[in-house]
Amino acid sequence: MKTAHYPPGPRGLPLAGSILDYRRDPLGFMGEVARTYGDVADVRFGPFHSILLGHPDDIKDMLVTYNRRFHQGPAHMFLARALGQGLLTSENPLHLRQRRLLQPAFHRQRIAAYADVMTAYTADLADEWRASAQRDLAQEMMRLTLRIVGKALFDTDIREASSLIGPASSVVNDYTSNRSTQVIGPLLDRLPLPASRRFYRAKAQLDRFVYQLIAERRADETDRGDLLSMLILARDESGRPMADRQVRDEAMTLLLAGHETTANALTWTWYLLAQHPEVEATLHAELDTVLAGRLPTFDDVPGLRYTEMVFCEAIRLYPPAWGTSKLLIAPWQIRQYALPAGTVVAAISYLVHRDPRYWPEPERFNPDRWTAEAEATRPRFAYFPFGGGPRQCIGEPFAWLEGILILATLAQRWRLRLVPGHPVVPEPLITLRPKYGMRMLVEPRTPGADAGVMAGTAPSPATHRLRRP
Ligand code: HEM
Repeated sequence: MKTAHYPPGPRGLPLAGSILDYRRDPLGFMGEVARTYGDVADVRFGPFHSILLGHPDDIKDMLVTYNRRFHQGPAHMFLARALGQGLLTSENPLHLRQRRLLQPAFHRQRIAAYADVMTAYTADLADEWRASAQRDLAQEMMRLTLRIVGKALFDTDIREASSLIGPASSVVNDYTSNRSTQVIGPLLDRLPLPASRRFYRAKAQLDRFVYQLIAERRADETDRGDLLSMLILARDESGRPMADRQVRDEAMTLLLAGHETTANALTWTWYLLAQHPEVEATLHAELDTVLAGRLPTFDDVPGLRYTEMVFCEAIRLYPPAWGTSKLLIAPWQIRQYALPAGTVVAAISYLVHRDPRYWPEPERFNPDRWTAEAEATRPRFAYFPFGGGPRQCIGEPFAWLEGILILATLAQRWRLRLVPGHPVVPEPLITLRPKYGMRMLVEPRTPGADAGVMAGTAPSPATHRLRRP
């Protein structure tokens, strides 16, 4: 490629480019850029060019067709300070080796075995709730999904430790997102500023917890059939076990990536259900028909189609991993533009998921968009909450199962209403969180109360997402 040729975009300030506009309101600003400059736009952050893609075909090219030209993006580089070289942050050949090693933990049969843990721990929470109590659903969902991932992947009940791990992982999320959007972030990271000290303290706490798990498992290497045993018992070509450091990086990655995202997805789902009683009533009717008051199992999931559609639609509007950015390590010609190595390329699911070209009335929460017929009319990458290509979320089947089972278990017994006046503000850090939490009132419901609503609205049968390759 001869000379760089960037697409049009906002000029921004002479030295800083658009960094201040972006930091003030990342989603609002990027939305404005997409509306003004179209499907390929250049946003300058200091000396760095960041290309924003808005068309599903280009996003597919970035994530799938030309993925070998990319490394993980700037946020991943900061995440690596906490996660080391785990699956989310490593590059080939390490990434490929570790992905192959970990993949079996997410196969269908293994996922099925996690279902009982998911419902049992959710039922514990449903038992804890009291009528008319106020709960912060953002916190409740974090505690719950953390406890589930701890038991499913590490065979450990981390109920006690969750009060330490939850806040520590919040600090990691805040810090990473903050520093990775500062041009002098790498410099600030090296200074003993209060935020950096908080971050390194949180990381040390997480380290102590994970290294303790590893030490206990090394002391007794009996195969417990969980992911931690897979890591501990793995041997390379020369028969050597994985170094503790690498086990730690993989475990830490799965612990953090495996709970915050699903927790945010569920928090937004409860919020949307509370705002849309007609959707909630259809959901309740499905639960009453399929489950008739008993706890859901793995085998119920194909029958919980409307529940799945609700979850699909919630993460369309509020994708927990709201955008992904990658770094070009080789030149890339996209349309008429010539991007040199070193350019950042970004795709923001939050924006594409609300693009009226693919989503009529995009702001409307409408689970009926998820019938098989409606899905078939949309390009594959108009919806990518789990990314795509070789870096697609490894935990996707886990997340679908967990989302559906948690919704089904709690919504059977409880109805949630937003506490009047509670401010709901999406905050795009590494994950998309409600900035002030989600304070809700819990009200008991009697299974059967909405019977009959399903008549005429039964969704068409479709292969549910857990069956997808
Ligand atoms: C609703 C829940 C979830 C969402 C929306 C989500 C989203 C994503 C996305 C968009 C990526 C790709 C990021 C990139 O482009 O680099 C990703 C990667 C990843 N996710 Fe998830 N995730 C969820 C749940 C989970 C769960 C439950 C686990 C584990 C138990 C998990 C583990 C991972 C890992 C390890 C990666 C890195 C994969 C790789 O690079 O090979 N995620 N996730």
